[in-house]
Amino acid sequence: MDVALEKRQVERAYELYAPVYDFIFDWIFAPGRAAAIKHLGLQRNDSVLEVGIGTGLNLPLYPATCRLTGIDLSQEMLDKAVERVQMLTMTNVALEVMDATSMDFADNEFDKALATYTISAVPDPVAVLREMRRVVKPDGCIVILNHFRSEGRVAGRLEDLVAPLCTRLGWKSNLALKPLLAQVGLEPEVVVEVNMFHGWRLVQCINRK
Ligand SMILES: C[S@@+](CC[C@H](N)C(=O)[O-])C[C@H]1O[C@@H](n2cnc3c(N)ncnc32)[C@H](O)[C@@H]1O
Repeated sequence: MDVALEKRQVERAYELYAPVYDFIFDWIFAPGRAAAIKHLGLQRNDSVLEVGIGTGLNLPLYPATCRLTGIDLSQEMLDKAVERVQMLTMTNVALEVMDATSMDFADNEFDKALATYTISAVPDPVAVLREMRRVVKPDGCIVILNHFRSEGRVAGRLEDLVAPLCTRLGWKSNLALKPLLAQVGLEPEVVVEVNMFHGWRLVQCINRK
């Protein structure tokens, strides 16, 4: 049974998760975060968009020489990111509440874009990736870090089985990587398995337009 994730459900879920998010998702997902920023290959003055920035757990990993814009649907998650920016005294960061399926940015506005642990938590991952492609310059780098449906038969079936429950909790457990990338016209340059049990995939793509 495929249960659709809805925007209101996501907003409600992250309103509840915001106060405890960092306790649960900081250390478990830290190795993937460091690898994801590394795969952006940031150069001095690069403009970077982080989609679904959440509480801003990636913020300390960005160099001060890049210009970062972070967007998120959830005001409560973004409030935490604002606190983190202030705590780290970062002057190179702009944060905005925005739906990643229809961004208020011009075409080709960013050099690079990143989405960590977000693509399976958005109601419409295809629309989000299409928007990321639109706002990133031709040949710019797009990095996605996420759990995707396992290619192993047993694990994949298990992820299908728990999918209705996970959807109610605010994410999709069985989002398949290859069809997703094919739908948005992205080809991975690099795919690396990261985090505990190699259960998450870091996907680096070049935005060929
Ligand atoms: C699992 S959290 C990941 C947060 C952060 N990227 C991290 O690495 O910790 C998923 C985030 O995606 C955000 N999100 C979900 N749907 C969105 C949308 N349509 N537009 C923007 N952000 C969205 C949620 O509010 C939440 O903060």
